[in-house]
Amino acid sequence: MTAVDEVREILQGIRRCLTAGRDLGLEPPGLSPAALAYLEGGSAVQRTATLEQLRDVIGDCRRCKLCSGRTNLVFGEGSPSARLVFVGEAPGREEDIEGRPFIGEAGKLLTRIIENGIGLKREDVYICNIVKCRPPDNRKPEPDEIRTCLPFLREQLRIIKPQVICGLGQVAASSLMGKECKISRERGKWFSYMGVPFMPTFHPAYILRNPRDERSLKKLVWEDVKMIMAQIGLRSGD
Ligand code: URA
Repeated sequence: MTAVDEVREILQGIRRCLTAGRDLGLEPPGLSPAALAYLEGGSAVQRTATLEQLRDVIGDCRRCKLCSGRTNLVFGEGSPSARLVFVGEAPGREEDIEGRPFIGEAGKLLTRIIENGIGLKREDVYICNIVKCRPPDNRKPEPDEIRTCLPFLREQLRIIKPQVICGLGQVAASSLMGKECKISRERGKWFSYMGVPFMPTFHPAYILRNPRDERSLKKLVWEDVKMIMAQIGLRSGD
């Protein structure tokens, strides 16, 4: 093993420890945001008190290659004191045009889940994505793009302090779990992200792309949603 490999391995070990600590809700002491970002392989994020301030910090973001194809950065929307945060994958076409998350067909289904299923208003929860800019042709966000953008999502979550995070789809689940996961295996299970109970479920777009399995997928999502409701003290009708 060369010295460079050795240093790389040590850095990877530190990154794993930092991520594990953060997932337990522990903030690493005595490290500047820039040093932390370097060790975590992401962007340096200045601490902010409000979502508006964080939005200003992100600015006209050029931190990763997704900036070149986007129309609007999609920061996220909803209640800054939401008990429940939904995290999707990345903005799609409509979201990119409007600068708002989940407003296309998948978004309409998510809104029905929130309003008709959970019984909350869309503006009572917070909705955002793993990356804030639309990937070309709706491809999956790449690891470097996720690494660059994730610190901003973490800062959003730190400000909102939700009681539950729901990860929509495989990309959100894998990014928050810090390892590749199969959504069909991990959905409906509780994990922890930054010390907050976190449950992955199917992405609404996946349900829409699989009309033959729509009923069974919706049933599974409803099972997951009921557990999420119980976690934030809401009763379901059944
Ligand atoms: N799919 C996502 O993951 N996010 C959006 O904002 C819209 C569709």
